[in-house]
Amino acid sequence: MSMAAKVHRRLHRSLVFDRRRNRLVDALLAQLPAGSRILDIGCGSGEISAALAAAGHDVVGVETLARDDCAIELTMFDGLTLPFADDSFEWAIVIDVLHHAADPARVVGEARRVARRGIVVKDHYAESRWQRFVLSAMDWVGNRQFGVGRDGRYLSRHEWSELWSQAQLAQRETNEAIDLYPTIVKPLFERNLHFVTRLERV
Ligand SMILES: C[S@@+](CC[C@H](N)C(=O)[O-])C[C@H]1O[C@@H](n2cnc3c(N)ncnc32)[C@H](O)[C@@H]1O
Repeated sequence: MSMAAKVHRRLHRSLVFDRRRNRLVDALLAQLPAGSRILDIGCGSGEISAALAAAGHDVVGVETLARDDCAIELTMFDGLTLPFADDSFEWAIVIDVLHHAADPARVVGEARRVARRGIVVKDHYAESRWQRFVLSAMDWVGNRQFGVGRDGRYLSRHEWSELWSQAQLAQRETNEAIDLYPTIVKPLFERNLHFVTRLERV
């Protein structure tokens, strides 16, 4: 790894990544019943799920991109068909994955199939070209170091609603105030751009 890449990784971790992980863990713990069996789809480094496990959940990860530093038990898959039987888990979590997935409806359908109680999704809202630009820049800064492409397809509130209803999922609880970023950058990087929602089968 080059010196510039090392500096970028260290800065990103200290300024953004650790706070993001902690705030998302809090948001997830507020929505998941204690002691749940959870599949983390697109778990990345696995740090979020390792914290959920430390809080008493039983968590397994699946990924399309191998990460040798993954903090939890990890199974690789093709991004299309989850290698688990129907209802194998109580909950699936899908954290900043759907906007990278080639076929987000398929991922949601698969999550619904394997998780008998429901799915908790963290993702973005994009209502304008400016918001798409900001999200794309954030993704590039945060993810290129891990080989995740600048491939985001950001959906509007209406498009997310359509996706949930086509998958026969109902939104039960949504948090749009996750407090991911320090106050000074919130207007640019946070306001109206992020949600965590719990979806249950209808
Ligand atoms: C921005 S990272 C998020 C990682 C982790 N969930 C987190 O929040 O720290 C997006 C992850 O989604 C994964 N991914 C992309 N397409 C996927 C798919 N179809 N199914 C599962 N994971 C996928 C990528 O490999 C990447 O690790």
